[in-house]
Amino acid sequence: MPRNLKQAVLPTAGKLEGFAIAILAAGKGTRLKSKHPKVLHAVGGKPLLLHVIEAARQVVPADRIFAIIGHEAEGVRQAVAHSGVNFVLQPEQRGTGHALVCAAQALAPYANVLVLSGDVPLIRPQTIRALAEFHLQHRGAMAVLTARPPDASGYGRIVRRRGAEIAAIVEQKALRGKQERIAEINSGIYAFRVKDLLARLTDLTNDNFHHEYYLTDIAALLVRARQKVMALEAENAHEVLGVNTRAELAQLDVLLRRRKAEELMSAGVTLLRPETCLIDDQVQVGADTVIEPFVHLSGKTIIGSDCRIGSFSVIRDSEIANGVEIRPGCVITGSRVHQAAVLGPYSHLRPGSEIGEGAHVGNFVETKKSRLGKGAKANHLSYLGDSDIGANVNVGAGTITCNYDGISKHPTIIEEGAFIGSDATLVAPVRIGAGAYIAAGSCITQDVPPDALALGRAYQTVKEGWAKKRREARAAKKS
Ligand code: UD1
Ligand code: CA
Repeated sequence: MPRNLKQAVLPTAGKLEGFAIAILAAGKGTRLKSKHPKVLHAVGGKPLLLHVIEAARQVVPADRIFAIIGHEAEGVRQAVAHSGVNFVLQPEQRGTGHALVCAAQALAPYANVLVLSGDVPLIRPQTIRALAEFHLQHRGAMAVLTARPPDASGYGRIVRRRGAEIAAIVEQKALRGKQERIAEINSGIYAFRVKDLLARLTDLTNDNFHHEYYLTDIAALLVRARQKVMALEAENAHEVLGVNTRAELAQLDVLLRRRKAEELMSAGVTLLRPETCLIDDQVQVGADTVIEPFVHLSGKTIIGSDCRIGSFSVIRDSEIANGVEIRPGCVITGSRVHQAAVLGPYSHLRPGSEIGEGAHVGNFVETKKSRLGKGAKANHLSYLGDSDIGANVNVGAGTITCNYDGISKHPTIIEEGAFIGSDATLVAPVRIGAGAYIAAGSCITQDVPPDALALGRAYQTVKEGWAKKRREARAAKKS
């Protein structure tokens, strides 16, 4: 693709000119012992690769980003395709250097390339940009982002030369003698002048422990070719931590959740025990909302201000308006809750539930594809499925909408102000008119007109003295 043409067509204001970004994402992630590709494992509720793509997109436009995929390529492609990045296939995973060999053609039109790792998810756009600027400033062939984390084990190490120049990057297994004590690690994030990178890629060999083509060997090859290779130490070592094991996945998740909790607290949200809550990156919470310990907020959840979210509540992909009280133990998925509603303890809102303003949903009430109007109440032990419940309806304890006949689902409509007595079963499809009254324990199979009383149960029969007679008859038999 002729770069100049692309740049002429696409607005790239504020985006680094002449730079492409390649993201290494083809590896299997053997150390995770998973059937899923490593880069699709999540931290902070989002796949590793998506974190990296999102950071990259803030540095260059998506059409200058190339994700190098290989292991389970189709699954990886589908999971991140919505980001608009390009994909390059590395059909066999023969090392990080080989990955760039596969991308050579895609990168050739660009002057410079930033290489990111799909398994280093905390990297921030400003750090990527700083590396690019450092690279341009020093006019080297390669710049490596480095760090000094408390534990360097597992990482490649930086052999410094003079000033900011380095001599080589040595993988952990190849460290010899004094090198074992080097604390400065290779983050796996680099900037290259494309023509020098492409010239050296053909010199890589797989003469090492894993018989792979290591991108890290390019550093020494460039130095041998009298090119400058520079190192820039990251300000914050956290940012360049990689994920190779489940333990590292958990560690990074903790860091991301902490970052999110701090962000919410500084925006005016109270988290009583922030370290116990799991809040995904994209979740929004309004000011003066109080989040009790052990709450899980995930996906595209938006919570208004002045709410209280009770302990052990799990809320996913839902919208909660202002002033809502969610008592402990609620599970809410794909639902909307309007202002000042009260839920729980132990309410279960399944997808498609909409709870009206000031409505109450109480303990052990399950809703699915159901709307409760303003001020409606369903306080105890109910199943409300495929139902439309008007304003100020009172749904008595134990009411069940029988929405499924074994083949299809049917709707229940309860109009405004109706009163449903306890333990009613409403066999759908059925409509209860406005202001109607359903006697407790009724099985309702036919529509009820507005303001009517419907009794769908056997009349009570009382047999005086029956129980006493029975007892006496048994006693007589025994003696
Ligand atoms: C790599 C670096 C190491 C650095 C560390 C930082 C090499 C040889 N070593 O080691 O110096 O300290 O990252 O986290 O590069 N990948 C491919 N194709 C492949 C192999 C890997 O795309 O054929 C991708 C992986 O999916 C991963 C990234 O490259 O996203 C890094 O690969 P990985 O095997 O995790 O390298 P490390 O051993 O961590
Ligand atoms: Ca890694």
